[in-house]
Amino acid sequence: MSIWIVPSILSADFTALGEAAQAAESGGADAIQIDVMDGHFVPNITVGIPVVAALRQRIRLPLDVHLMIEEPARYVDAFIEAGADILTVHVEADRHLHRTIQHIRQRGIKAGVALNPATPPEAVEYILPDVDLVLVMTVNPGFGGQAFIETMLPKIRRLRTMLDALGRSDVPIEVDGGINAETAPRVVEAGARWLVAGSAVYASPLGVAGAIQHLRQRAE
Ligand code: DX5
Repeated sequence: MSIWIVPSILSADFTALGEAAQAAESGGADAIQIDVMDGHFVPNITVGIPVVAALRQRIRLPLDVHLMIEEPARYVDAFIEAGADILTVHVEADRHLHRTIQHIRQRGIKAGVALNPATPPEAVEYILPDVDLVLVMTVNPGFGGQAFIETMLPKIRRLRTMLDALGRSDVPIEVDGGINAETAPRVVEAGARWLVAGSAVYASPLGVAGAIQHLRQRAE
């Protein structure tokens, strides 16, 4: 399974999100992650449906929309209509996760499930057969620029084993938070293949394209 580098716009210049996303696209990114936060599920408020729709007009890459919101099922259709290609919901935020994942896939969109750092892999055991992506948060969600949580490495390994045992070796594990040149090879060794990076891309002295290339080199 190939490595995907997925810049998160949360760390980009919010006065120029279109340009930031385009820089990632032309700089060799595989997808763009849009972090949607509601101030309830996480202690921050960021962007929503209009920003996804606006970026959809300018970006050809897959839009990987990470819903850090309570009861995400309320907005799934709106984000799909706005142009999301991948919609990831948190297992901690949805009482009817199986129904939500099923609905996303019935709409023809890739469905991801995300786990906060303290959430055990077993919490998603019965949804693994139905998802297209598993997102392991390697920081506490809400902000960019945080330190990687080392104890997530065995969790990545465990999820990879669980997916492979189900015959889902096609389902990538995505990691998100504190991913940089130092942590990239270690999460890949543990089984991650999609690497979300905010500050390691948008705050890099290498520039966006250079940072993406450097991360990819460190990961492969
Ligand atoms: C955190 C977000 C992450 C964050 C990553 O809640 O989901 O995508 O932007 O930022 P870095 O890569 O700087 O840790």
